[in-house]
Amino acid sequence: MSKPKTPQGGPEAAAGLLEVRGLCRTFGDHKAVDDVSFTLPPGGSVGIVGESGSGKTTTARMIVGLERPDGGSITVGGRERASRPRNRAERLARAREVQMVFQDPYLSLDPRIAVRDCLDEVLRLHAPELGKPGREARVAELLDQVGLGAREAGALPKRLSGGQRQRVAIARALAANPRVMILDEAVAALDVSIQAQILELLATIRREEGIGYLFVSHDLAVVKHITDDVVVLRNGKIVESGRTADVLSAPQHAYTRLLIDSVPGPGWDPERIAESRRALA
Ligand SMILES: Nc1ncnc2c1ncn2[C@@H]1O[C@H](COP(=O)(O)OP(=O)(O)OP(=O)(O)O)[C@@H](O)[C@H]1O
Ligand SMILES: [Mg+2]
Repeated sequence: MSKPKTPQGGPEAAAGLLEVRGLCRTFGDHKAVDDVSFTLPPGGSVGIVGESGSGKTTTARMIVGLERPDGGSITVGGRERASRPRNRAERLARAREVQMVFQDPYLSLDPRIAVRDCLDEVLRLHAPELGKPGREARVAELLDQVGLGAREAGALPKRLSGGQRQRVAIARALAANPRVMILDEAVAALDVSIQAQILELLATIRREEGIGYLFVSHDLAVVKHITDDVVVLRNGKIVESGRTADVLSAPQHAYTRLLIDSVPGPGWDPERIAESRRALA
């Protein structure tokens, strides 16, 4: 299925594929997300980084439609999605546009359904025009795309490794033919070699399909690898944003510097990190 997802020119290219403006969400008296704005260009990849509790997942959940914003707007291809969908067709269309991959696919995959049937189910919902033979062909294509074979296709999630399960979760997101994919700590639970494989797979998919990625992660090395632009969140607010390479090599904000210094490596000094944190507070 090859519908053009990265049109050249036109208002959408100028406006960005995903536009988030002034997004807010309060829980009780706690502002979890406070006036967050950014643009994901067509086929681009934007990272959201920040410490635990900085509002990354809440932002992602509002964009995908799992959480209602208190204020602000979210548009995909120029269409507003912060309001409640008016009917089933609209709800499905929105679900198709933005798909999410979570940290732990085991929790998001139905343990009773084999991989092949899980993908078939998504196609039945989002691509009813395919018919049974069309769906079978598409399932095979999706499995091939994420590097899963016949054995995995017939397996239940519990028979798969963490990396394989994450491949299934990615295939399931792709089955909806989305324009934007949100990955929330999608490689955080995987060991480094599997992590590298999944990141490689995601990079290939982005090149081939032109899907835009919103990549939520606390891992700066991963963000550096997979994103073009980055947004740094602290206590629900953006403290800094820009090209990932620039922000990570020459951070403008002390908090970004703190995040970078917190990564263990040569010269890593917990004492200095604690000092920077006290200076920021
Ligand atoms: N449903 C909820 N009810 C109340 N508070 C919530 C809810 N969801 C999130 N929060 C609060 O909002 C803040 C932001 O949470 P969020 O999950 O967005 O952080 P995060 O940046 O994704 O953190 P982590 O890196 O640990 O996943 C936290 O203080 C959290 O306790
Ligand atoms: Mg989170």
